[in-house]
Amino acid sequence: MSIDEEKIRGIGKVLNDETRPLKERFRALFSLKNIGGQLVIESIEQGFKDPSALLKHELAYCLGQMQDSRANPVLINVLKDVNHEPMVRHEAGEALGAIGDESVIPILEEYSKDPVIEVAETCQLALNRLKWLKNAEKSSDKSSENPYASVDPAPPLPVKDVDELKSILLNEELSLFDRYRAMFSLRNLRSKEAVLALSEGLKAKSALFRHEIGFVLGQLQEEVSVPYLRAALENPEENEMVRHECAEALGSIAHPDCQIILNNYLDDKKRVVRESCVIALDMCEYENSPEFQYADTLNKISVT
Ligand SMILES: [Fe+2]
Ligand SMILES: [Fe+2]
Repeated sequence: MSIDEEKIRGIGKVLNDETRPLKERFRALFSLKNIGGQLVIESIEQGFKDPSALLKHELAYCLGQMQDSRANPVLINVLKDVNHEPMVRHEAGEALGAIGDESVIPILEEYSKDPVIEVAETCQLALNRLKWLKNAEKSSDKSSENPYASVDPAPPLPVKDVDELKSILLNEELSLFDRYRAMFSLRNLRSKEAVLALSEGLKAKSALFRHEIGFVLGQLQEEVSVPYLRAALENPEENEMVRHECAEALGSIAHPDCQIILNNYLDDKKRVVRESCVIALDMCEYENSPEFQYADTLNKISVT
């Protein structure tokens, strides 16, 4: 299917229209991500002027998932700009790692010492991923059997034992990269025990780590994780980036209980939490409807 420029511009308009409901703009963003290409990158770049940290971080996420190195300059600017919220700069750093171009190593090295801990840790992880990629190419290490379509910040470990993976996951002495590797191995196992082990990770010291656990639990969509995700969302002391990810995970699990929980936080003090609940409730709606496509803006817009 060839999608002409006009259609991409049409979807870009939905994305960048501040008067449109956020959930529509998110669907537009994911529609663009699925199309890809230079024009899509340009449309997404415009969105970084928006005041919503939630939207901006998702823009960076999508640019990374597209794995198109033409997005590198956009992401570098976002990473450098301290006016962006930590979660936005974090996502830009992670996206640079996902694209995996060696030319960004000096930038990642510089920002791996950033005073914002989430940003520093992200850049350290991204550097580790690039190093791993390079070695994996040489040794043709194919330890990646990711059943999800995501490009992850770390490859899984070649270990299948839940207890062993859990002990790596929860070991605060180990590097974040190794613990992330255990996290993705547990995710790929998709057993109840693995989900419960991952849920324990919501008590880890690093907020970045906890937010990634929230993300992974959202991918798994298992009801057993709901009480853990709920506790994190309901804790006003918890880092907003973690609360955001837990809200969205509840949205993708989409059990009726999740809807009740999410509705309680539509007026949260933190904008990013409120907006995450809006998006999460839209995800619940999608999961519970016969709609076959979340990223459906292409079918909905009429280009005039
Ligand atoms: Fe993230
Ligand atoms: Fe997120």
